[in-house]
Amino acid sequence: MDEMLSSAQHRPLVLVVGGGSGLGLRLSRTLLAHGYDVLVGVRSQEGADAIRIAGGIGMGQRRLSVSQIDVASETSVERFFDLVPGARQLHGVVICAAIAPTPRPFWETSLAEWERVIATNLMGTFLCLRAAAQRMMDARFGRIVTLSGGGATSVRDAWSSYATSKAAVVRLTECVAHELRNYDIKVNAVAPGLMPTRMADAASRAAASSRAFDAPVALIEKLLSEQLSITGRLISAVHDDWPCDEFWATSEPWYTLRRVDEHLLDELQKECDQ
Ligand SMILES: NC(=O)c1ccc[n+]([C@@H]2O[C@H](COP(=O)([O-])OP(=O)(O)OC[C@H]3O[C@@H](n4cnc5c(N)ncnc54)[C@H](OP(=O)(O)O)[C@@H]3O)[C@@H](O)[C@H]2O)c1
Repeated sequence: MDEMLSSAQHRPLVLVVGGGSGLGLRLSRTLLAHGYDVLVGVRSQEGADAIRIAGGIGMGQRRLSVSQIDVASETSVERFFDLVPGARQLHGVVICAAIAPTPRPFWETSLAEWERVIATNLMGTFLCLRAAAQRMMDARFGRIVTLSGGGATSVRDAWSSYATSKAAVVRLTECVAHELRNYDIKVNAVAPGLMPTRMADAASRAAASSRAFDAPVALIEKLLSEQLSITGRLISAVHDDWPCDEFWATSEPWYTLRRVDEHLLDELQKECDQ
């Protein structure tokens, strides 16, 4: 399945982890069309086939590389990131890979199932963030996007493991962004909104618009831009005001896990007083 990237290429290189279906597949196609080199990480052969077909439509295949990755395995994640040639600057990484288990009350959920979701969605994100940062810090540049949504900011009955993993991805994103604040490595989380993918149940798929990918893909592309100043934010592709230019100039702490408490209000009051 592996295809190595040629170090002779000079377009900005973005890794899309979990790009064999759904949002990751759409995003990879858009990035290719907009002049990025894309290395797509897929778990299954099915995903590899899907991305190759997508990449072949009117786009030079040499800009697209596909390789196997299991984000729940440290060895596999390291092997995947090692495909980036040493001399090549890594522009961005988007971590789409996640699983959603069959919804069930938490008291009927086995530990094994809970661990599987956390290992993929949360620990997988950690492993990719670490591997990305280690390869970006020397260049003192990088753009990283994690995927949240689905219960990070509100309760979802029967989705306890998924919702917990996605809330934790946001806090992880905030922590990592802060630790990397002096490296021009910006790390933000996106809540993409309901999309008609395998992850959504049949009813949600039917309810989701066929244009549902447009907003998250456009938002993620913005978050990959070189001029980006914000970091450590959770941005909803659907509900937040990101299409407005003013949004990108703000550094207010609103777009975080959104807990409004006295400490946060004090900080805001201080900013207002300045
Ligand atoms: N769909 C929605 O309504 C919705 C809403 C909010 C947030 N999100 C988030 O958006 C992101 C993209 O999801 P999607 O809707 O596009 O669903 P999707 O089509 O199921 O995409 C998830 C991808 O993750 C990959 N993956 C799963 N486990 C993996 C592992 N251990 N290692 C590597 N790759 C793995 C899958 O690969 P295989 O196909 O090979 O298994 C699949 O390509 C996810 O983070 C999801 O939580 C989705």
